[in-house]
Amino acid sequence: ASTLRLAVIEGDGIGKEVVPQGVRALRAALEPAGVTVETTDFDLGAGRWHRTGETLTDEDMARLAEHDAILLGAVGDPGVPSGVLERGLLLKLRFAFDHYVNLRPTRLFPGVSSPLANPGEMDFVVVREGTEGPYVGNGGSLRTGTDLEVATEVSLNTAVGVERVVRYAFEQAESRRRKLTLVHKHNVLVHAGHLYRRIVEKVGAEHPEVEVDYAHVDAMMIYLVQDPSRFDVIVTDNLFGDIVTDLAGAVGGGIGLAASGNINPTGAYPSMFEPVHGSAPDIAGKDLADPTATVLSIAIMLDHLGHVEPAAAVRAAVENDVAARAGSEELSGRGTAAIGDALVAAISGR
Ligand code: NAD
Ligand code: IPM
Ligand code: MN
Repeated sequence: ASTLRLAVIEGDGIGKEVVPQGVRALRAALEPAGVTVETTDFDLGAGRWHRTGETLTDEDMARLAEHDAILLGAVGDPGVPSGVLERGLLLKLRFAFDHYVNLRPTRLFPGVSSPLANPGEMDFVVVREGTEGPYVGNGGSLRTGTDLEVATEVSLNTAVGVERVVRYAFEQAESRRRKLTLVHKHNVLVHAGHLYRRIVEKVGAEHPEVEVDYAHVDAMMIYLVQDPSRFDVIVTDNLFGDIVTDLAGAVGGGIGLAASGNINPTGAYPSMFEPVHGSAPDIAGKDLADPTATVLSIAIMLDHLGHVEPAAAVRAAVENDVAARAGSEELSGRGTAAIGDALVAAISGR
């Protein structure tokens, strides 16, 4: 029997409600394989910041690094200045642990209704760059608060950084339907956009079976709404990927189902798995949050760690549950804990 050391960051808002359901699902999935889950809870987020002024210390980082994987709920709180926790905690982790692949799949599960009239067979994955772009914090403000204020956020993109994520996206395409769409805005962002374009061309030459196309990010908002079934693998930069994946979540059956992995494919650092959604202060503490996105993020974690059968079991449990919700007010009206109970029971009962 082996052990999986899981670092748990519930964070803020509904993070505290959905994460425990994810941990239960993980334990249930691994039990038949004889894998024990050893959790370490990390007190990070608004509460800790208010008490101590700390977001994420070197000591926290060193302890997190000792784990096989990290499960994160969400950070961000109306009582904390916007950006303090998002940058100081979440982005700091993605950068420090070199999570250069932000993997965000969308699949419209059978029986689940999409807000789209003609959703088709929606099954695509967004490979969002996770360590560069406008997220790096390269900017500043001069004459802050005056009429002459100047604010910059410089997007940083490196050939090495772009190539490694593009390679990962092509590998994903090889194992899927062999179609890759680059999303950028190279008609305006001519520096970063053409860097992405050239690297996709170069790596694409090594993958002649993969059909490559391109969409400007603005047009992508049209295609994702009008014809999402045309996509297989979408590769894009950090900011565009953030925006595209909220829309993908919405058209794919709701943000409560959208899962993600912040992955360091080299294994040099623990990867981190989290729902795409945030701390949802509008519904926090009311047992209204759907924990399914967190449970599906556990499936991505299990795949990443090589536990393929447990991952499939988690997905099967979710698929059955979401299909059953469709026709039933009673099932679709369940709270966070009740959905968690049902998913855990289905995973255990396999
Ligand atoms: P949000 O994703 O928290 O909420 C957007 C909408 O989706 C809200 O109406 C919310 O009620 C709903 N929603 C989200 N998750 C849901 C779930 N599991 N079940 C049902 N409904 C759900 O985005 P926001 O309101 O823009 O941001 C709130 C805070 O979260 C901000 O502080 C933001 O910075 C932070 N945030 C954090 C993360 C993260 O930690 N990964 C991600 C996004 C936003
Ligand atoms: C996400 C979030 C984060 C992002 C924020 C909270 C830093 O929106 O995970 O999608 O922009 O990446
Ligand atoms: Mn986002």
